Amino acid sequence: MAQPQPPSFKTVFVFLDTDKYCSPFDMLVAIDAFPDSMIFKYENVTDADAPKIVFDLLFPRGPEGAKHTKIFINGSNFEMVEKVVEATQKAMKSAPWGNSIIVDPRGGYSTAAAAVAKTFGVAMKKGFGSLEGKKVTVLAGTGPVGQTAARIYAAEKANVIITSRALAKGQAVADKINAEVGAKRVTVVEVTKPEQTAEATKDAEIILSAGAGGIQLLSQAQISASCKIVADINAIKPLGVEGLAPNDDSKELKPGVYGIGALAIGKLKIKTETEMIKRATAEPQGLFDYSIAYTIAKDQILKKLAKAAAK
Ligand SMILES: NC(=O)c1ccc[n+]([C@@H]2O[C@H](COP(=O)([O-])OP(=O)(O)OC[C@H]3O[C@@H](n4cnc5c(N)ncnc54)[C@H](OP(=O)(O)O)[C@@H]3O)[C@@H](O)[C@H]2O)c1
Repeated sequence: MAQPQPPSFKTVFVFLDTDKYCSPFDMLVAIDAFPDSMIFKYENVTDADAPKIVFDLLFPRGPEGAKHTKIFINGSNFEMVEKVVEATQKAMKSAPWGNSIIVDPRGGYSTAAAAVAKTFGVAMKKGFGSLEGKKVTVLAGTGPVGQTAARIYAAEKANVIITSRALAKGQAVADKINAEVGAKRVTVVEVTKPEQTAEATKDAEIILSAGAGGIQLLSQAQISASCKIVADINAIKPLGVEGLAPNDDSKELKPGVYGIGALAIGKLKIKTETEMIKRATAEPQGLFDYSIAYTIAKDQILKKLAKAAAK
C-alpha cells in the first residue's frame, strides 16, 4: 500500500508594499530567482495592517508550510517601511511560529549595499585601503539609497558627510545613524546651490552621488582634489555626475580619480538582491535587510579581489 506523502509546499512571496502600487521590479527579481514560486501582493500597507496579514499568512500552512512563505516588505516611504517591519516582527513574536522577512525598500538596501561595496572594491584594488577612517561624502544622502549607504559607511567606521537641500531633514537622518552606530560619524552640509557642493566635498576621498533620478549633482570641475573614487547611482539622464557613464567600472576619470557608474552598481545590486531572496528562502526564519545585503555584496567583492590576487 502506498505510504501517505508529506505535503509539498510551493514557495510563496507575500509582498507588503507601503506604496499605492507594488513595484514590479522586486516581484520580477523574486520570480527569476524562483520561477516556480507564487506572489501575493498587498498595497498601501501600514503598520496597523501588517499584523492582520501576518496572522492570515502564518496559520493556514502550519509550521512546515510557513517555512515556504516569505514576506517581502517594500515601499518608498522609508519611515512607514520601518514601522511595517517592526509591526511584522512583533506579530510574529506573538505567534507560535514565524517566517523569513526580506526588506529592500524600493531597492534601497541592495542598491546602497552594492554601491558601498563597489567603492570598497576600488579602494582595495587601487591600494587606498579599507573604508575605516575614510572621508566620504554622500550627495543627497537623505533618500532610501543615500541614507542606507551613509549608514553602511558609518558602520564601516568611515567619516561621512551627507548633503541635503534641507538642513533639518539631513540632520534627522544623521542623528538616527549616529545613534545606531553609537558615534558621531555622520554630519550634514546643506546644499541649496551648486556652489555649496564644494564645501561638502572639499576633503572627500570617496564621493557617492545618491540623488533622485535625472538630476546632476556634481560637475567634472567640482570633483575635489582630495577625491579618489566617485560613484553615481542615478541611471536616468541627466546622470548624477558629469562625465561618469553608467557602465564605467573603476574607470580613471581624471588622473588618480576612479569612477563607478549606475549600471556597474546595478549589476551587483541585482546579484545582491537575488542572493538575499535565496538566503531568506533557504532559512525558515530571520530578517534579511541592509546588513545582510552588505555582507553579500562585500563578499562578492572580496571573492573578486582574491581571484585577481591569485592570478
Ligand atoms: N543603480 C541602481 O541599481 C539603482 C537602484 C535603485 C535606485 N536607483 C537610483 O538611486 C537614486 C536614489 O534613489 P532614492 O529612492 O534614494 O531617491 P529619492 O528618494 O527619489 O531621492 C534622493 C534624494 O535626492 C534629493 N533630491 C530630490 N530632488 C532633488 C532635486 N531636484 N535637486 C537636488 N536634490 C534632489 C532629495 O534630497 P533632499 O530633499 O534632502 O535634498 C532626496 O532625498 C535614484 O536616482 C534611483 O533612480 C538606482
